[in-house]
Amino acid sequence: MQPISRRQVLLLGGFGIAGTAAGGAGLVWTLTSPDHPPMGSELTQPPEEWSANGQLQVRLEAAPGQMLLAGQQTAALGYNGGIPGPTLRVRAGDVLRIRLVNNLAQATNLHVHGLHVSPEGSGDNVFVAVDPGGTFDYEYKLPLDHPPGVYWYHPHHHGVVADQIFAGLFGAIIVEDPVPIESSVDRVLVISDTTLDGLGNIAAVPGMERLMGREGELILVNGQSNPKFSARPGQRERWRIVNACVARYLRLRLDGQQLQLLGLDSGRFPTPEKVDELLLTPGNRADLLVTTAIGNSVLRTFYQDRGTMEGMMSPGRRTRGPANQSDGTALATLHVTGEPVATLPSVPTQKVPGDLRSATVAARRQFVLAAGMGGGLMSFTINGKKFNETRTDTTVSAGDVEEWTLINSGPMDHPFHLHIWPMLIIEENGHHKYPAIWQDVVNVPANGRVKVRIAFKDFSGRSVYHCHILDHEDLGMMGAIEVR
Ligand code: C2O
Ligand code: CU
Ligand code: CU
Repeated sequence: MQPISRRQVLLLGGFGIAGTAAGGAGLVWTLTSPDHPPMGSELTQPPEEWSANGQLQVRLEAAPGQMLLAGQQTAALGYNGGIPGPTLRVRAGDVLRIRLVNNLAQATNLHVHGLHVSPEGSGDNVFVAVDPGGTFDYEYKLPLDHPPGVYWYHPHHHGVVADQIFAGLFGAIIVEDPVPIESSVDRVLVISDTTLDGLGNIAAVPGMERLMGREGELILVNGQSNPKFSARPGQRERWRIVNACVARYLRLRLDGQQLQLLGLDSGRFPTPEKVDELLLTPGNRADLLVTTAIGNSVLRTFYQDRGTMEGMMSPGRRTRGPANQSDGTALATLHVTGEPVATLPSVPTQKVPGDLRSATVAARRQFVLAAGMGGGLMSFTINGKKFNETRTDTTVSAGDVEEWTLINSGPMDHPFHLHIWPMLIIEENGHHKYPAIWQDVVNVPANGRVKVRIAFKDFSGRSVYHCHILDHEDLGMMGAIEVR
């Protein structure tokens, strides 16, 4: 690994974030082991767009360009010229208007992952395709009781979703808390992975890797490789983490610091849950509180076995250097130093979305996720069918509560995602989940099954469910649902 350059050292000396203690000045060191990538530059935040008076209007231009990725200029794709795209900060009840401008060489569109909004018309409609040179005006009306939390946006044009995200098209959406939670700093950490070729372009991905779900050689936080940042002891930091990787599961640790999980996806715990480790499948988000203690802590991701395909090698061994399972891969380095800060008031009790376990279930369905050999080709199906956008696979009556059993018939995990309507996870492999939590991506383990309940309330219309290993989605592991 290359040592920190003189230029980087100068930059490190020049940048500071508000509230950073001076104690870090001059403390620049080089880590040389492949498991400790050299510490990068100061953690940056994507630009932010805040709603005002119940509205946020933004223009997102998807275009190729030279973007700063892992500290180097890279030919990639970005929204408004950066990776990640701007963070959109909205509130329940707001109207979010996004003008998507497509300056890519291929069709694209936009999906607001996890938002509970209408899937119809110019809402969160994944059946819209925006051709090169075209624009589309999306309008999303968030209900007044929309759950606060971390969401994200990304393209959803079937067949190229994985490629476009891998090349840099994604950004975070925050739905603000109705009752503010005091914190010293609010950070957005969008974690993505990608692979660069020798020329500094996004590398093409061989077909074989798509079958398993591609995992990039570089794991980046806000497009940066192992960025660093500082805090004073006793700070309560709010970290909004998005797993924007196409296929990589993140098993995160930040040893030496106290972690409390406010929620996952749109789900929330009444009081923050203490955690040591956090598993985020592709598409999942975490809303995390970190109470800082003096010392240096490295945010690491550890190898997560997500199974294999019959007769094939397992994934996730290609990461440059840090294949070491015991040490994980360094994603970011937190330096806690200086005088302790005053303790903040305790976190107000959080409103938890309703429980469906005593609800009347109108229908029970099964969804079998399969990646299998058929006629000499790999096929990726749900209930034996490959996605066809003209076919509706599941029809639901608006207002009903349904219980879905998600069945994985193979030796590889599949993270199942349903648009618009969140899922309450009630059972995994026959074990009741406690506390039951609302998520919009749920891992269905290899040869396992998961039971969820869904309230098809507030909106009707046509949308999709799919595997959030986006290569699998592009290969056909997706179905269309209509609520009417
Ligand atoms: Cu994050 Cu259907 O997507
Ligand atoms: Cu989604
Ligand atoms: Cu899958």
